[in-house]
Amino acid sequence: MCGIVAYIGPREAYPIILKGLKRLEYRGYDSSGVALLDNDLRVYKKKGKVAELEDSLVGKDLHAHAGMGHTRWATHGEPNDRNAHPHSSSSGRLAMIHNGIIENYAQLKNELIRKGYKFVSDTDTEVLLNFIEDIQKNNNCGLEEAVRIALKRVVGAYVIILLDKESPDTIIAARKGSPLVIGIGKGEHFLASDASPIIEYTKEVVYVNDYELAILKADELILKNLGNEKLTPYVQSLDLELAAIEKGGYDHFMLKEIFEQPDTIFDCLRGRLDVTKGTITMAGIQQNIERLTKANRIIMVACGTSWHAGLVAEYIFEELCRIPVEVEYASEFRYRNPVIHPGDVIIAISQSGETADTIVAIEKAKENGAFILGVVNVVGSSIARISNAGAYTHAGPEIGVASTKAFTAQLTVLTMIALKVAKEKGTIDNTRYMQLLGELHSMPEKVKEVLKLSKPIEKLAARYKDAADALYLGRGYNFPVALEGALKLKEISYIHAEGYPAAEMKHGPIALVDEHLPVVFVATKDSYHEKIVSNIQEIKARKGKVIAVITQGDEIIEKMADDYIAIPESDELVAPILSAIPMQLLAYYIGVAKGYDVDKPRNLAKSVTVE
Ligand code: M6R
Repeated sequence: MCGIVAYIGPREAYPIILKGLKRLEYRGYDSSGVALLDNDLRVYKKKGKVAELEDSLVGKDLHAHAGMGHTRWATHGEPNDRNAHPHSSSSGRLAMIHNGIIENYAQLKNELIRKGYKFVSDTDTEVLLNFIEDIQKNNNCGLEEAVRIALKRVVGAYVIILLDKESPDTIIAARKGSPLVIGIGKGEHFLASDASPIIEYTKEVVYVNDYELAILKADELILKNLGNEKLTPYVQSLDLELAAIEKGGYDHFMLKEIFEQPDTIFDCLRGRLDVTKGTITMAGIQQNIERLTKANRIIMVACGTSWHAGLVAEYIFEELCRIPVEVEYASEFRYRNPVIHPGDVIIAISQSGETADTIVAIEKAKENGAFILGVVNVVGSSIARISNAGAYTHAGPEIGVASTKAFTAQLTVLTMIALKVAKEKGTIDNTRYMQLLGELHSMPEKVKEVLKLSKPIEKLAARYKDAADALYLGRGYNFPVALEGALKLKEISYIHAEGYPAAEMKHGPIALVDEHLPVVFVATKDSYHEKIVSNIQEIKARKGKVIAVITQGDEIIEKMADDYIAIPESDELVAPILSAIPMQLLAYYIGVAKGYDVDKPRNLAKSVTVE
């Protein structure tokens, strides 16, 4: 949710910032802008994607050795040039970019208006910037001190980066609740929302923590808390290659990420699952195994696709571990005063590890004594750091806004955790345990088989691309996959889609069915098979068009469905890892057939860092 990047050092700042913005564009693409600082402070900004900004700057003098850039996902104020970042202070001395939301901005704005300040944008960012400038003037202090004083009054989440015309050798940044990484080069520094703009220059990074302030010069990094005490930066080495964040010959990141799934699932299992020894090695789980085996209750908190992974995990944990599980939308959980006991285990699931709703849900649960286990993809992210323990999903950077490989990696990790807990607890017999280890082990190869269906799915997409609505139905482990299929279609193709448990459709949604409505059944062979066959009959009887994802050799549904996609046989417990993939491909090819930018669907951002 908004991407920010900055540079100070001997190189030209603009090309570094521009490239960084392109890498961060998945975080928001309503507008973009840059500020360049040398003898003067120049701000350029434009509604639309980074390429539009780039075109508008051709021929301009962009020479500078310090600067910053922003790509916006609009919160306060519609996407236009005026509301684009960077914002300039009233005097023109300061410029600032911001990722997050200043919740008490209206109150601060009123105070400033009473003092005679005028605002040119509708943003909370411009308010905070002028608030800082006002403190600087009134207290006759430096920018660093003014920022510190201002942030003590701010309610909300932010990463801010400031440039001051009077100090062209310094960049000031601060963080609370939104991500900020500093790259440390030789006589140069980089700042960004994630490491992607930094990795080609340096692998040495510092993740800035909440309530920390960074004062950067080309050859100096000072980290302080808001109490003005110096902190020792914890320098880490990035384990990320440039190739992982490039398209590698694919038309879109989304397609690349779908096709990476045999490898990402393999990476997720690697070093953990040993089918010959019958072991699952996960240090974070092993060290806290008693908390899990003795948990009164497990609560999964997540949003979007990660929430769907939590729903699948609910079925798996209850089946294997016999522990009651609840799956909560993080945003609702936080605000409804939930009953949480110290014996509860919260499993927080997140690709980015930066989702604000999930972060606040974790904080709430922690306050009530619950133990937090993070299942996170991005190493070093906020959720990874605030969890008591965790397991990374190792899916590598996911850049397409629609989550794909992160979902199947989440399912893989959650299944391994459940198996480990069940084995320790004695709620699974050895035969079933070994069988499921074997099933997980075979997933990368089976996923490769599913991906071979991409051409037929592309043809299917061409036939259904003009549908106005779609219904996605599944039962049991495949019910959350139906929800995920509908979410993917909505996000990428803007076709209205609903996911339901297949049996629930007769309690209402069946009224939508006519000869124009495509109904996607996730109907692989499992314990619900006969029941879902009846549900398909019910749709056919009302002339609905049935597209079924089935197990290879399922002649019953093959004959009934208008179209089918047959995937390899697997145990029902791990079937969602396979059945999710046709959902991803169908949405992808429909989005492409409709001519949409599938990597950057309208109104969305990859990492939702506002509540
Ligand atoms: O990074 P997270 O997994 O916490 O993100 C949660 C949701 O914002 C995310 O899954 C979103 O729904 C995706 N766009 C789905 O494709």
